[in-house]
Amino acid sequence: MTAPLLVIDHVSKRFPLKATLGDKLTARLSGRRLSGAVHAVTDVSLTVPKGEVVGIVGESGCGKSTLGRIVSGIYAPTEGSVMLDGQPVASGREEHVNKLTTRVQMIHQDPFASLNPRMKVGETISEGPRTHGLVPASEVRAKTRALLDQVGLEGAYADRFPHQFSGGQRQRIAIARALAMQPDLLVLDEAVASLDVSIQAQVLNLFLDLRRDLGLTALFISHDLSVVRHVCDRVAIMYLGRIVELAPADELYAKPEHPYTQALFTSVPTLGTGRRAFVPIKGEIPSPIDPPSGCAFHPRCPFAGPRCRTEIPRMTDAGAGRSVACHLNDGGVEEQGAAA
Ligand SMILES: Nc1ncnc2c1ncn2[C@@H]1O[C@H](COP(=O)(O)OP(=O)(O)O)[C@@H](O)[C@H]1O
Ligand code: SF4
Ligand SMILES: [Mg+2]
Repeated sequence: MTAPLLVIDHVSKRFPLKATLGDKLTARLSGRRLSGAVHAVTDVSLTVPKGEVVGIVGESGCGKSTLGRIVSGIYAPTEGSVMLDGQPVASGREEHVNKLTTRVQMIHQDPFASLNPRMKVGETISEGPRTHGLVPASEVRAKTRALLDQVGLEGAYADRFPHQFSGGQRQRIAIARALAMQPDLLVLDEAVASLDVSIQAQVLNLFLDLRRDLGLTALFISHDLSVVRHVCDRVAIMYLGRIVELAPADELYAKPEHPYTQALFTSVPTLGTGRRAFVPIKGEIPSPIDPPSGCAFHPRCPFAGPRCRTEIPRMTDAGAGRSVACHLNDGGVEEQGAAA
């Protein structure tokens, strides 16, 4: 068996709370100490072999982008580690880290903000490889044109500026820029979320072609289950910083197992008809500053029992390559040991 390309091992990320002057005054007057943090990512483990595409799905604020940024080396984890090809991906400004982090390329939601408006797209695409000496100067132009071709754009576009392109075209340019770095891993963070549905489909098809031709390994982050369906081998569902279900895409879409995944599916738009059979999940998303005790989903879960309020469910094997973090899959929701 070959070693996995990416190993995320018990990674957590907490952001210190930025207290306002008012918060500080109130704390002082009441004699309380200001403490607390945003629990953006909690105890996430995930192993990705080379050539696999894993979807990361969950509602806004559940920690998807933070996880993507940790994997890309932009943030250091508060706990745990990320290994790429057997080497640690750390955040920081050290030389060796910078070299390593070019091996992970991130593609963001907003192709308008991520491209420099004053640079010709050819310069944007070739900037990274030129800076890192990946391509000899004499080959830069041909290589840039080949990349444009690979993402379905004309080579002559290299001399144009970003404002001359549509949103979908800009996202193709952003993908070309990422591929130019010859990355081992792509992290696509809501890469099609800002595009119209028909353009989304075109960019997803491009991604499918690229993955077939280049054997890409990727984390494909989206808040939308219908977007990741056809581009991912496995899907991880996140809730309030944790992975609650991880399953092969076919298995997950055939039968969501975790109560939160099931709830997400009831809020997925019906594809094709364009109609949204939208059933919002009961209750508010709790604050990641003070996540609920036990299973963080218990205030919203129709199956919650006493055990759910006190004990954090572990990820357990549910067969067919699926893992689920729910007491229903691990002994039941009643208090454990009470009857013994
Ligand atoms: N740099 C940061 N500083 C403080 N809090 C942050 C920062 N980045 C994200 N957060 C918080 O962490 C949580 C997870 O955010 P994020 O990873 O962006 O979620 P998602 O991408 O799933 O919408 C949110 O509560 C968000 O407000
Ligand atoms: S552990 Fe309990 S509260 Fe959490 S999803 Fe399962 S049944 Fe619901
Ligand atoms: Mg995000």
